[in-house]
Amino acid sequence: MTEKKTQPWWKKAVVYQIYPKSFQDSNGDGIGDIQGIISRLDYLKDLGVDALWISPMYCSPQDDNGYDISDYRNIDPMFGTMEDMEELIQEAKKREIRIIMDLVLNHTSDEHPWFQEAKKSKENPYHDYYVWRDGTPGKLPNDMKAVFGGPAWEWVPQIGQYYFHQFSVKQPDLNWENPKVRQEIYDMILWWMAKGVGGFRLDVIDQIAKEPDRKITNNGPRLHEFLQEMSRETFQKGDLLTVGEAWGANTENAKLYSNPDGSEFSMVFQFEHVMLDQQEGKEKWDLAPLSLVKLKKNLAKWQDSLYGCGWNSLFWDNHDLPRIVSRWGDDQNYRVESAKMLAAVLHGMQGTPYIYQGEELGMTNVQFADIEEYRDIEIHNMYRERLDGGYTRQEVMESIYAKGRDNARTPMQWNDQENAGFTTGTPWIRVNPNYRQINMEQERKDPGSVFSFYRRLVHLRKEEPIFVEGRFELLLPEDEQIFAYTRTLGSEQMLVCANFSGQPAKCGLIPQWKNARELLHNYEGDVKEELRPYEVVILIRR
Ligand code: GLC
Ligand code: CA
Repeated sequence: MTEKKTQPWWKKAVVYQIYPKSFQDSNGDGIGDIQGIISRLDYLKDLGVDALWISPMYCSPQDDNGYDISDYRNIDPMFGTMEDMEELIQEAKKREIRIIMDLVLNHTSDEHPWFQEAKKSKENPYHDYYVWRDGTPGKLPNDMKAVFGGPAWEWVPQIGQYYFHQFSVKQPDLNWENPKVRQEIYDMILWWMAKGVGGFRLDVIDQIAKEPDRKITNNGPRLHEFLQEMSRETFQKGDLLTVGEAWGANTENAKLYSNPDGSEFSMVFQFEHVMLDQQEGKEKWDLAPLSLVKLKKNLAKWQDSLYGCGWNSLFWDNHDLPRIVSRWGDDQNYRVESAKMLAAVLHGMQGTPYIYQGEELGMTNVQFADIEEYRDIEIHNMYRERLDGGYTRQEVMESIYAKGRDNARTPMQWNDQENAGFTTGTPWIRVNPNYRQINMEQERKDPGSVFSFYRRLVHLRKEEPIFVEGRFELLLPEDEQIFAYTRTLGSEQMLVCANFSGQPAKCGLIPQWKNARELLHNYEGDVKEELRPYEVVILIRR
């Protein structure tokens, strides 16, 4: 290797995402909480992760599970207290784990005091914190739709105006054009930084610079100006991991978001690869057949485009997405093999990997028979809209089974006891019935488990710099079964070679790598030219 540059810590890090409501309950009320997280820090340390991104725990009426914040500087009593939060930051720090806060800056809750003031009158000093348009009842400013269904405009009779909301009615959009709003936000970020947090995940950040009159939601003209100002005023004063969630990111603007000069964020969390399974121009519920060739080419495009001039987030799952093993793997016949394969393929690429709670156990999607078992506002709104629109109940349920957000939100499966060890009370959402087979306690003692494979993968990244720095190259781009690529660093080369299918697959690369050393493999015995279902191997030669 040539000269050694010092890398920012987050380039070598693995992030673990916690959905606090479903992680671990400590007081029997059926809802996960901060003390629950603290009680599981040793587990997370053992897995080897460096940072925890925790979905919002601020005060919230929970219309959208905490993504509707009513007080940015307080913890919702349901999760605990500010003292608990401070304890969590300290306890995590002792284990060299940093806490990444989830910041929702595009909107607040309608119960936030700013909005309560804003809707009193047009003259109120907080009025301009939100986005308003004049109108008359029934005559909306335009036909824009909210992400969770229905119009993006809500009428407030007292003042004769509509407010704009990209998400639910209870999530009014903040007006970033107003410098006072931006200042309030920066002060709040600095306040959290002073508490010792390790960074921020910025919710739907590409949507803050909206211009509803031109029907612009994401990537508004002033977006990067706002982001650079925010970064200058806040993030750059610390040594943070910052990650912007951007559904509208492309490989060009991603170079701005993740510019190595630190002018915006450390990295961007973009979704092109998870949107490949939907019909173009339609909604996520409208499935298209999966294509490995498309997936590989998409991931390779991101790897190539950001090499040396940006930084990728690597993820399959989060709290808004179905479980990867149920999507691209086979959660029936090859659950363990395919979960491991997917992990190796993801973590082998360049970027910062994210593990979503339970992914390291190979947790699967869930199928509740009754719509009332579901909790997600998006699922319920879609269910009503689609039934009204003439879809059959069966069709709608199939979409929920495939893509509903509650697939990821069932409680973490800790053991085979009642409620999977998540709570001694009644869980806020039902546990996936497969917890007797799939749970942490059983996997942690099994060297062949999905968990053990993830742990090895996370530790490998720390041992082998090629995982962080090596240059990516896609091999066999047109192969419909094999996903293979190399990483190259100086004279070292690593091969990640996977059979992405449930049928055996011949792969001519394997004989060419005969004398290489095996770093990781999801089957017993040597890897042969014919790969077994979902077989994956990582080889290295120096
Ligand atoms: C993001 C969050 C999602 C939330 C939405 C609105 O996409 O990940 O859970 O519903 O923003 O805040
Ligand atoms: Ca609780």
